[in-house]
Amino acid sequence: MTRRNFFLSAGGAAVGSYTYAYHVEPSWLETTEKQVRIARGRLRRPLRILHLSDLHASEYIPIRYLRAAFAQGLAARPDLICLTGDFITSATDYDEAAFGAALRMLTAGAPVYAVTGNHDGGDWAARSGWYPTPARVTAMLAGAGVRVLDNRSEVVVTGAGAVRLVGLGDWWSNNCIAGEAFAGVRGGEEPVVCLNHNPDGKQECAEAPWELMLCGHTHGGQVHIPWYGPARVAILDKRYAAGLNSFAGGRWIHTTRGVGNILGFRMNCRPELSSVVLA
Ligand SMILES: [Fe+2]
Repeated sequence: MTRRNFFLSAGGAAVGSYTYAYHVEPSWLETTEKQVRIARGRLRRPLRILHLSDLHASEYIPIRYLRAAFAQGLAARPDLICLTGDFITSATDYDEAAFGAALRMLTAGAPVYAVTGNHDGGDWAARSGWYPTPARVTAMLAGAGVRVLDNRSEVVVTGAGAVRLVGLGDWWSNNCIAGEAFAGVRGGEEPVVCLNHNPDGKQECAEAPWELMLCGHTHGGQVHIPWYGPARVAILDKRYAAGLNSFAGGRWIHTTRGVGNILGFRMNCRPELSSVVLA
């Protein structure tokens, strides 16, 4: 290969990688399904949860992409939809009215429950000059019919049977208060599913009676380097960076790679629409 050809191919590869990482993979949604056997006869039939996270509505994640993602997720006909935080990236670059209208697509299809993430407001977001509390995002969600469960729980009755959802506030925002979230929750009745944006928050409730925890926050790493792995995963316990992983006491933690991203790129780590089926 001549010097000229070498530099032409290297330049071509760089342009190709850039185009792929910014313009192809970020919207190339992967639909996944995982079975979790925790119900042990407590449900009439398998209960299908659509687990979405890290929507990150922003200049990089247009509402029309989120609407397409919601339509694709609803095609799985979920009994229940759980959203695990980071609805926005910053307080300044999303269209609240359009986002609320898009979220109504989900609430028209199934009961929708949510917890907020570090980007949605609180101690962490305030350090960047964004919302000092998640109140504004919570109001948008509530206006669209989404039940927000930061540090509280509810029993949800679906066609498949009842399940108790316990929501934690965000761990990075110093709002993960397990004592409040699990108040009055004894376990042993309905399956207990915990919604928790950041998987590291599990430390706060390791002794609580949850059986499945649904998390986001990591984006699966967002960029995977071949033969190396995720470039950066923003959690302490890297075992829970993505996918369905076991936890002490026969429990499970599901971390979805998320629907959106930060700064508009992904590489070898496609956005994910997760179905988690309790059986
Ligand atoms: Fe996120």
